[in-house]
Amino acid sequence: MKISVKKVSCIGAGYVGGPTMTMMASKCPDLIFNVVDTNRERIESWNNKDLSKLPIFEPGLKALIAKTRNKNLFFSTNIKEAIESADIIFISVNTPTKKKGLGAGKSSDLKWVEASAREVAKYSKGYTIVVEKSTLPVRTAEVIENILNSAETISKTNDVSFSVLSNPEFLSEGTAINDLENPDRILIGGENKEAMIALSNLYKAWVKEEKILFTNIWSSELAKLTSNAFLAQRISSINSISAICEVTGADVKEVSRAIGKDSRIGSKFLDSGPGFGGSCFKKDILNLVYLAEFFGLKEVASFWESVVTINKWHQKRISEIVVKKLFGTVANKKLVILGFAFKANTNDTRESASITICKNLLNEGADLIIYDPKVCPSQIGTDLETNPTTFLEFGKVNVNEDYGRWTFCDNLDNNEVFKNVCAVIILTEWAEFRKVNWKAVRTKMVSPGWVFDSRLIANGKEVKEAGLNLWSLGDGHNN
Ligand SMILES: NC(=O)c1ccc[n+]([C@@H]2O[C@H](COP(=O)([O-])OP(=O)(O)OC[C@H]3O[C@@H](n4cnc5c(N)ncnc54)[C@H](O)[C@@H]3O)[C@@H](O)[C@H]2O)c1
Repeated sequence: MKISVKKVSCIGAGYVGGPTMTMMASKCPDLIFNVVDTNRERIESWNNKDLSKLPIFEPGLKALIAKTRNKNLFFSTNIKEAIESADIIFISVNTPTKKKGLGAGKSSDLKWVEASAREVAKYSKGYTIVVEKSTLPVRTAEVIENILNSAETISKTNDVSFSVLSNPEFLSEGTAINDLENPDRILIGGENKEAMIALSNLYKAWVKEEKILFTNIWSSELAKLTSNAFLAQRISSINSISAICEVTGADVKEVSRAIGKDSRIGSKFLDSGPGFGGSCFKKDILNLVYLAEFFGLKEVASFWESVVTINKWHQKRISEIVVKKLFGTVANKKLVILGFAFKANTNDTRESASITICKNLLNEGADLIIYDPKVCPSQIGTDLETNPTTFLEFGKVNVNEDYGRWTFCDNLDNNEVFKNVCAVIILTEWAEFRKVNWKAVRTKMVSPGWVFDSRLIANGKEVKEAGLNLWSLGDGHNN
């Protein structure tokens, strides 16, 4: 039986739900897409006429929104209506690590997924395909199925029925639009072939058939966790090698280039940096660790947990190097932080290495001037759990010397930014940081001035010619 699809809804208008539905709406102009969220403010931002005020920043997103919004793509808080009318419903809500209770610190908190499933059970009509777009622990589809097929739902009316599919999202923030447009693969896990074909037909509007993989539902759920675990493991691996490079005189860039030429290894994801961040890597690995522990696979659990342990250690290592190079103390010293987002081309700061590194430096009493082209100061305040200080106050003596202060800078051309600064620390690889005029910066800084480059993007020759000391991550020739 061919399943007819006219309306598609998505619960969750976040970093995944928003861009994914926007891409689908642009590729399937004959279908209607409703994206709903309980967060009114977020929905208002998605509906803002001023496209620079969308809730998330992704290159290429504005143009797609302009093409589809209020044509066949609608953002609203009307969850009931979106569910009632949908033939396919994507669940794309947050699944953070549980903070307390059973599995705290490792397993995913599924309360938002459960709430969404209950809403679907309550309002759906007729036959509905329910798609797990969120990243979920293996066998979550069973939980969703149980909720949907509870006696209460089925007694609502006889013609309500569901198929649950897993369709994990592999987009990467910062390149989400390109990733959605040119995916390496689309993974669809499930049991009901007709439902799987109906879902795959959406993607076939722009994705070649051979890139659409059908698997069983548990393989699909596990493949997403495994994919993120492998990616994070590569970052921890090369970051651990960067520490060896620094003490042996090797250069991590050269090592990466050399091993990346091996076709069995490949060259992607071999850039050393301040440690992985983002909402997914740590949470998904911990989920895998929890799963392994649950099934008594202790050695497997500890293998994957070490990827997170190295990441934490690496971030601490970077802040300690800054302190050591600045004569063992940063108390009352001004430091400029370049970049707060967890990577370039996104405004997302979740699990950003900048948070840990800035907190460590504030703990050491440093005064930080933080600049990021897309992250707003209120987000930084939430992440650092302190309020910013104004530039004016920043010039005065810190009365609470035990803990440093921070201020936000919205523009690197501001004359005050580098004044009396001891060090500039590059933490996000924004393109504009490649073009800093180090000669001009040097004239305002305290001597000896330092540049700490954790992204390997500064022009080392220019930094040194400007008379600044340079520490580059993984460079065995650091002075
Ligand atoms: N961010 C990424 O790069 C990425 C990539 C692939 C997969 N994922 C996975 O996708 C899922 C979503 O991630 P995200 O980054 O978009 O999260 P997000 O926090 O940006 O967005 C989730 C949204 O869901 C909404 N929500 C929660 N419960 C709801 C409910 N009951 N009804 C309606 N709305 C509700 C929240 O208000 C929020 O706006 C997660 O499982 C994540 O692991 C994320």
